[in-house]
Amino acid sequence: MSFNKMFTGIILVGALLIGCQQKEVTVETSTVPQFTKAVAVLHATEGNEVKGVVTFTKTAEGVKIVADVMGLTPGEHGFHIHEFGDCSSPDGKSAGGHFNPEGNPHAAPDAQTRHVGDLGNLTADENGNAHYERLDTHLSLNGPNSIIGRGVIIHAKADDLTSQPTGAAGARVACGVIGVAKAQ
Ligand code: CU
Ligand code: ZN
Repeated sequence: MSFNKMFTGIILVGALLIGCQQKEVTVETSTVPQFTKAVAVLHATEGNEVKGVVTFTKTAEGVKIVADVMGLTPGEHGFHIHEFGDCSSPDGKSAGGHFNPEGNPHAAPDAQTRHVGDLGNLTADENGNAHYERLDTHLSLNGPNSIIGRGVIIHAKADDLTSQPTGAAGARVACGVIGVAKAQ
């Protein structure tokens, strides 16, 4: 074997080793912890008495959403995830519009394309209490559709599920920020 061939061989082996090392680095960056549970505590906006808790739990079939809210007027109330986890303004408008990373029109929660934040309506009983439970396959706790750090808004009126871009659900009566919760 000539010196040149041996030298080329050494370079090839070296390049392979460097290639393997780079591959290992890529694997390491993809082992970022995956969130499995999130929670939003809802506080009333100015002039309202609404409060509640919403949990988001990752399951094999999607994210399970459970909301318990009190202090509502009886009937339906628009229930959405909004773009910003910012409840600092007294009217809740600091939370921005519906969370819509895919650029879709507003729609019902069971629509094939919709805002990721379109969760439909809560239905309050005659005492103003609402319980909501749904499995959702649009939103996520990880990746581009992650809702961590976004806002939850409850509205004064029903979401009609068609009016653009908000479902004509009226004023914001409660606001909460979605945070990472302890996994169970
Ligand atoms: Cu909303
Ligand atoms: Zn929407």
